[in-house]
Amino acid sequence: MSAFNEEQVLSVHHWTDTLFSFTTTRNPSFRFRNGEFTMIGIPVNGKPLMRAYSVVSPNYSDTLEFFSIKVPNGPLTSRLRDLSVGDQILVSRKATGTLVIDNLLPGKNLYLLGTGTGLAPFMSIIRDPDTYDRFEKVVLVHGCRQVAELAYGETITQDLPNDELIGEFVSQQLVYYPTVTREPFRNRGRITDLLSSGKLGEDIGLPPLSLENDRVMLCGSPEMIADARTMLTGLNFVEGNQGEAGHYVIEKAFVEK
Ligand code: A2P
Repeated sequence: MSAFNEEQVLSVHHWTDTLFSFTTTRNPSFRFRNGEFTMIGIPVNGKPLMRAYSVVSPNYSDTLEFFSIKVPNGPLTSRLRDLSVGDQILVSRKATGTLVIDNLLPGKNLYLLGTGTGLAPFMSIIRDPDTYDRFEKVVLVHGCRQVAELAYGETITQDLPNDELIGEFVSQQLVYYPTVTREPFRNRGRITDLLSSGKLGEDIGLPPLSLENDRVMLCGSPEMIADARTMLTGLNFVEGNQGEAGHYVIEKAFVEK
């Protein structure tokens, strides 16, 4: 049996020149935990060319969704960017990853800090009812260079609060804080600076990060992750992983070289 399922592209959405999303069919045997990633790709010269992608869609959805950058001359993304409805793609039969709530110790507030396509795993986590069961507040911070890169902003602010399954949780427990670094916007600045200056807490009405109350998931640019990790380590936060829960967990966003 092949390690991959063949899925059919159901829709494609281009957010900007460099960012797009697409949905596919889902083989019913494909199981994942919200926040995990899988390998997706296409056959090139008869061999599967696969890369890691977080699943955007929640694990109770009949379809799969992925969020991708377009890298000029990237072996996979320069092909994926031309996907059309009806095309076939390969999706691994397995999913894995560290950004799952089971890898976090109990806490009061869950901070989901993502840059760029690092938002992807958090889109499934904020649609998981268990997330709201475990945490009183879920703070989703999405940092991008430009406003147009704040993908899924409308889904989060308009669709999710009206969702049958999780609308009430979202309305009462989710705080969405998009921030932009390279052009004017209502929230500006790097995620790490917003945390260390206290500006984020001030804006959303929560106290500074504490070991006792707060748990953190990081996904995005390696530089952001490195800086955030230094900050968290300074607060005595311990990193969690598969099998050992901690105060924070990390995943690098998929970047094609
Ligand atoms: P900045 O514009 O100040 O570099 P990228 O597109 O390079 O992956 O960056 C996505 C977002 O992550 C940008 O808003 C960028 O801010 C921010 N960023 C880059 N490096 C860091 C870092 N070390 N700490 C926090 N945010 C960062």
